[in-house]
Amino acid sequence: MDNFAEASLQKFAIGIAEIDAQHRRLFELLGEMKGWSGTDLEHAAAVHILDSLSEYALVHFAVEESVMRMLHYPATAAHIAEHKRFSDTLDIFRHRLLKEQRSIDLVDFIKSWLVDHIDRVDRGYVEYFLAKGIEPTAFH
Ligand SMILES: [Fe+2]
Ligand SMILES: [Fe+2]
Repeated sequence: MDNFAEASLQKFAIGIAEIDAQHRRLFELLGEMKGWSGTDLEHAAAVHILDSLSEYALVHFAVEESVMRMLHYPATAAHIAEHKRFSDTLDIFRHRLLKEQRSIDLVDFIKSWLVDHIDRVDRGYVEYFLAKGIEPTAFH
């Protein structure tokens, strides 16, 4: 794992191992995008890695959302709406990337969204999940 993913993981670990492992993967994929800027973007690679990140984000969101639903987490609807806004915005970025061959603010958007969402919104369910019996440690 690169330094960025490692630093992000330590700073934004929420204390549920399965979820932190999924966030780690998102930070790793973001780390692969970090060298991109404007015109020196490698276009095919950019689209590919954006697609990988979008797909993995959907998987991760589905996991969080089903746990929230199963546990009747009170803020489920608002949380799902945030996930959807992110996915919709990534679709817009993808469209722009295909049309303009570059996307200067894509990496910054993903980074700030992930950091804000994990730290503010995901962290909000931890206490509730643990109180409902979710295991904080990894499944073996
Ligand atoms: Fe998350
Ligand atoms: Fe989330």
